[in-house]
Amino acid sequence: APSADAGGGAAAVEPPTRGTPVTGLRGPSTPAVGGAVRPYTVTARTATVALASGQEIDAWTFDGALPGPPLTAVQGDLLDVTLRNEDIDDGVTLHWHGYDVPCGEDGAPGTTQAVVAAGDEFRYRFRADQAGTFWYHTHQVSHVGVRRGLYGTLVVTPREAEAAAVDLVLPVHTFDGVVAIGDDDGVLEQAADEGATVRLRLLNTDSEPHRFALAGTVFRLAAVDGRDLNEPGELSERALRLPAGGRYDLVFTMPAGPVALTVDGEVRLRVGGGDGDVATGEWPELDLLGYGEPGDVPFDLDTAYDRHFTMVLDRGVAMVDGRPAFAQTVNGRGHPSIPEQVVADGDLVRFTVVNRGLETHPWHLHGHGVLVLARDGRPTTGSPLWVDTFDVRPGEVWEVAFEAANPGVWMNHCHNLPHADQGMMLRLRYD
Ligand code: C2O
Ligand code: CU
Repeated sequence: APSADAGGGAAAVEPPTRGTPVTGLRGPSTPAVGGAVRPYTVTARTATVALASGQEIDAWTFDGALPGPPLTAVQGDLLDVTLRNEDIDDGVTLHWHGYDVPCGEDGAPGTTQAVVAAGDEFRYRFRADQAGTFWYHTHQVSHVGVRRGLYGTLVVTPREAEAAAVDLVLPVHTFDGVVAIGDDDGVLEQAADEGATVRLRLLNTDSEPHRFALAGTVFRLAAVDGRDLNEPGELSERALRLPAGGRYDLVFTMPAGPVALTVDGEVRLRVGGGDGDVATGEWPELDLLGYGEPGDVPFDLDTAYDRHFTMVLDRGVAMVDGRPAFAQTVNGRGHPSIPEQVVADGDLVRFTVVNRGLETHPWHLHGHGVLVLARDGRPTTGSPLWVDTFDVRPGEVWEVAFEAANPGVWMNHCHNLPHADQGMMLRLRYD
């Protein structure tokens, strides 16, 4: 099988054939004016970790915990993170999912850096310019490493903004078939005063989508993939399907009675007191493309794009490295045999992503948020929708666009990580 994360051959860093070598595209060493330095050291190591129920997980961890340490910053701070690898024999890196870092900080082994072998370390530095809910994870044999626990959350708060009275970071992950929020595989309980503002930051760190619903209150979906929506309206009795890798921030005002969050139909978080039941239900799914109010976008369906790439996703036998192999494919080929997408700095780029297979493909481009233009020919009618991961379901066609303004070489892949490992991954390279 093709080894998407460059497996054992990840030692070499290939510079771009033209333009600035990735190794020259490192982050700054100082925060923005008024910002602080946030130093962290994160150590990758194997550990046996117990979930809240007592179930033991034979894990790969950052700092011995599931998930790894929560990283936080205020907008404008400098994140200064030293990654150490104690004993992960396959090696590790840190990839800042959804964060548009300079390319040399992106953590793609064999592309932006050499893999960090056991006993080695690597220092990442970048400015926390984007406020919102993000995450980090290893990018080396990530279909194994992330599943086993090599991930954590990254939350950047705006410099001037009132924090919510209750602000919960809720990374959902499946360990050995058990769905947990953080390391809790039971029901989380959270106190909140009536009238308090509550923010729930939902993260899907799995390879399959999860379905969420909030019962007992009206709420707003304030942000998607760490990017605020424009005038998000009040919702109730709506299900929210969160793609693999994606994030939703939900905000509500605490009512008198309890509120319940369900994950895949099960209550997993209760907010507020009392033993009273909260009525949950099978509610219709929110259509993200029609939610919120239209706002300013820098380009749209009618823009003349400098580059337009079509990616047809499917699976089957394909030529991979000169040999036929079973693969998850893009335009009939598997990594590393998929031609690179080449762009120039400043280009407006459009992707058409077509799913011809029978599985959902959560598409993820490194280093760039993309604007959703349309799904199945129907344009976005709600808030401008900037995402870093979007679910292309069987038969769907998505149109997304972005400005190429972050030079380097970037992985562009399915975030169902086993699919990426089976070939559904390519590179976008600045000329
Ligand atoms: Cu979160 Cu290349 O991925
Ligand atoms: Cu996929």
